Amino acid sequence: MTEHNFLQPYTFQSGVTVANRIVMAPLTQEMGNADGTVSPSELRWYRLHSGDAGMIITGSSNVSELGKGFEGEFGVWDDRFIPGLRDAASAIKSRGSKAILQIFDAGRISSTKILRGHDIVSASEIAAPREGYETPRALSGEEVLQTIKNFGEATRRAIEAGWDGVEIHGANTYLIQQFFSPNSNQRTDEWGGDLERRMHFPLAVINEVKSVIAKYATRPFIMGYRISPEEVEEPGITLADAHALVEKLKDEPLDYLSISLGYAWRTSLRDENDKELILNKFVNQVGDAFPIFVAGQIITPADADRALNDGATFAVMGLESIREPHWVKKVINNDEDSIRYEFSLADAEELGIEPPFLTFLLRGFRKALRVSTDPKIDANVYQNMAAPYESTKRSREYLGN
Ligand SMILES: Cc1cc2nc3c(=O)[nH]c(=O)nc-3n(C[C@H](O)[C@H](O)[C@H](O)COP(=O)(O)O)c2cc1C
Repeated sequence: MTEHNFLQPYTFQSGVTVANRIVMAPLTQEMGNADGTVSPSELRWYRLHSGDAGMIITGSSNVSELGKGFEGEFGVWDDRFIPGLRDAASAIKSRGSKAILQIFDAGRISSTKILRGHDIVSASEIAAPREGYETPRALSGEEVLQTIKNFGEATRRAIEAGWDGVEIHGANTYLIQQFFSPNSNQRTDEWGGDLERRMHFPLAVINEVKSVIAKYATRPFIMGYRISPEEVEEPGITLADAHALVEKLKDEPLDYLSISLGYAWRTSLRDENDKELILNKFVNQVGDAFPIFVAGQIITPADADRALNDGATFAVMGLESIREPHWVKKVINNDEDSIRYEFSLADAEELGIEPPFLTFLLRGFRKALRVSTDPKIDANVYQNMAAPYESTKRSREYLGN
């Protein structure tokens, strides 16, 4: 068998052991039912992927009714979702992968259409600086407390439904990041203001999830956190802000910190003179406190090796796990030559990609998806460039459509 460190098992602080250090990235598929319940298409998708990556993280799943950001995403905001969530956890675990539910609230990255006429909510009454986004209503103090509780309730449901853990989605411009950002949070109460106060919301969510796990979990249960280390907007989250938050996270029983990047070897977007890899900065900061997950164009076994050599403990793979659900098996079987690095439209059905997901992929990620019949493109589409899910400034040029 080929020697790759990413094929080694790993045991998290909570006691959960994964078979390898490849993670299927959280991927919104829009294939669920309109009411937020799990659909047969999703079960098929997750069964197809089980037993390859050691850990599979679901697409973002909304903890509040008004926190829905995409059609067809999992809802976790009511006990009635528990049966479907149980089926989804079983599908992911069917061939041995660990099942992690990504819990989030979209905040202002939604629409009155997605919310069926209900209010879009956020930290402040400021629209996302993207074309076509509506102005949200600022959550009241009471609603902020309820939203924090919703993250805890979603965690309780995940425990009850047999998941191996939750990932708190503090990245990609959604509500937790909206509270952390000086751009979207201009509140004057205890949830806004200087850096210290803008950390209150993310830390309160972590605290709530932590106490729910302590209260309800009777088996090892993972708590992970995903962060976007910078925003390109002015004002916006700086690397110094992100380091300050991570410093606080070091005091928490986190099983991992996942850094969301469009390119794993990217340097600062805000400071072109800063040549140190963002990954290295956070690896150096956290030391042994918890393992680092990194995502961003990890495609080949050599890329995963490189991410681990650069200090990440886990390699998170998004588009490549869509193109190749049997990537880990092929590496283990010394069959790397058969790994698919391009996406053929003719393979969509075999890959479990049904129309809503296919449309979502082709609309938002066509260039990075590498469609085999498209003209060849630069392999490093997001190198030192904010990817669509990272920034409120989407670049049509980089979407390729
Ligand atoms: C179709 C698609 C859906 C995504 N959905 C989510 C999501 O629900 N939650 C999340 O944190 N990131 C999401 N992302 C970002 C990925 O998790 C990952 O960080 C990103 O794709 C970079 O990794 P890659 O270059 O290996 O694809 C999504 C990305 C894509 C392409």
